[in-house]
Amino acid sequence: MALRLGDIAPDFSVTTTEGDIQFHQWLGNSWGVLFSHPADFTPVCTTELGTVARIKAEFDKRNVKVLAVSVDPIDSHHGWIKDINETQNCTMNFPIIADDKRVVATAYDMIHPNADDKATVRSVFVIGPDKKIKLTLTYPASTGRNFSEILRVIDSLQLTANHKVATPADWAHGNDCIITPAVSDADAEKLFPKGFRKVKPYLRYTPQPNL
Ligand code: BEZ
Repeated sequence: MALRLGDIAPDFSVTTTEGDIQFHQWLGNSWGVLFSHPADFTPVCTTELGTVARIKAEFDKRNVKVLAVSVDPIDSHHGWIKDINETQNCTMNFPIIADDKRVVATAYDMIHPNADDKATVRSVFVIGPDKKIKLTLTYPASTGRNFSEILRVIDSLQLTANHKVATPADWAHGNDCIITPAVSDADAEKLFPKGFRKVKPYLRYTPQPNL
């Protein structure tokens, strides 16, 4: 059965371009982003890995470790990294799993046979420090992912894990947030000292509480 939000992210032991790792131990107390690619030496994947390498500091700042996976072997990955560095104005700075035995691809249901029976689709899993799955995304092979959106969701996940707020459509860091419906107006006055704006009883905005 497909993995669902709130499930424990399956643990695994694998070889990566930065050595062997045991996933849960490697995550430690960090958040994690595990993302799959159809294959090495493919154009869209090359741009995706280059993009993540260039913005890795943004993940570090949020205490997030990034880990890529594709079903090609380790020698292939090392050859591909040379191309990524050469063409994407970056130096690869995070591990790629050599999942030639499809251990990760199977555990995370990353092969969708009606799309392609051999290659992984573009899956994204955001995993919390409690090892639970907080976000899943599935993109087709032909569409490169928007990693700014993944950072935006992580900002929302980390904010809403610590404050009784949710984030509205197209929210970005610094924008007003929504007070969750379970909070009464009386409690909202105590919890949100910057105040709140009540548009409807169920729609109350407050400035982002952790700024
Ligand atoms: C790519 O990563 O460029 C790609 C992979 C499979 C199909 C189409 C594009």
